[in-house]
Amino acid sequence: MAKKKVVLAYSGGLDTSVAIKWFMDKGYEVVCYMSDVGQGADAVSARKRAIKIGAKKCVVEDLRKEFIEEYAFRSLKAGAVYQGKYNLATALSRPLIADHMVKVAKKEKADILAHGCTGKGNDQVRFEVTFHVKAPGIKVVAPVREWELKTRESEIDYAKKHGLPIEQTKKKLYSIDKNLWGISVESGKLEDPWFEPPKDTFITVKRPEEAPERAEYVTVGFEKGIPVSVNGRKYAPVELVEKLNVLGGRHGVGRVDMIEDRLVGIKSREVYEAPASAILQTAHTALEELVLDRETRKYKHGVSRTYSELVYNGLWFTPLKGALDAFVDKTQLKVKGEVKIKLYKGSATVAARKSPNSRYNAKLATYGEGDVFDQSLAKGFIDLWAMPYKK
Ligand code: ARG
Repeated sequence: MAKKKVVLAYSGGLDTSVAIKWFMDKGYEVVCYMSDVGQGADAVSARKRAIKIGAKKCVVEDLRKEFIEEYAFRSLKAGAVYQGKYNLATALSRPLIADHMVKVAKKEKADILAHGCTGKGNDQVRFEVTFHVKAPGIKVVAPVREWELKTRESEIDYAKKHGLPIEQTKKKLYSIDKNLWGISVESGKLEDPWFEPPKDTFITVKRPEEAPERAEYVTVGFEKGIPVSVNGRKYAPVELVEKLNVLGGRHGVGRVDMIEDRLVGIKSREVYEAPASAILQTAHTALEELVLDRETRKYKHGVSRTYSELVYNGLWFTPLKGALDAFVDKTQLKVKGEVKIKLYKGSATVAARKSPNSRYNAKLATYGEGDVFDQSLAKGFIDLWAMPYKK
């Protein structure tokens, strides 16, 4: 009988390296799946290690373009920010990776899909919901949830005992997930909410006290709610995000320190870095202020919150998420223009904005010459407005 085959989400890290061996010992054939979402890890040597451990194959795909265009920018247009602070960088990458794993599993005629997430986090949910939606009936295994290796030390001992080529040492400061849209840092010393994130948690963003003394301006251009240019020059999505990550990082922009509520009911302390996303969110919101009518803005606010919760909770491939995208896209048709952002010691603030579709009417707003607002109408308006509340 042919061996059963598993497609494993492989990062090159300790958990998933040990998982290869664990599956092999159970008699499975292992196909590793690695994607580039901008984590900047060395895929070439990770792939070699997977094969050396005994994986039958290691598929590597560059998903950066799809990630930014179809996931990050969708979320940007929707204004989705979990609990008002987290830009969802990790959460957005999971359905994308899981979706591609399903494609590989189908091609490989695999029996099982697997990931290296623990049973305490959100990522297991995001992977598995996508597996179930895209490949109903397929078996899902999460080795880290099942095996006896309860600590990092025991995993390293296991790896040593079996001669697995791993790069990890027993000291690991934090658990880090990195992609183009942001970096998530957790655990280690950060588990104490009263402990200020130390220097070594700053990965791509400068500490504000070390950022330049001089402010820098950056102008972002949008079309249909999507960022298309920086300082008047057109950029493809991936390059645009890379550029703003560098620029924002240099000025200490995009750090978040929060206690967030995980889907499984645990509160956790998280530190995030997302400079490009912070600049783009600020700019995008500023443009919407100018272009959208009051009622649409108000309604969209609620949509943003729901959208952020759907993404966080692993419900990317669901009917409501699709319906909300249709609404959001409709609201973005006229979100075109430029926003000038000032970067200075950890902050990204709006300095100026303009749009060919602006609803701002200087003749109505002005307190100077050329006012066309008929102030005599205000009295009757207020009388009616207050009428229902009069005794
Ligand atoms: N708390 C974030 C989320 O659920 C980030 C988790 C990232 N994982 C990590 N190993 N740091 O989306």
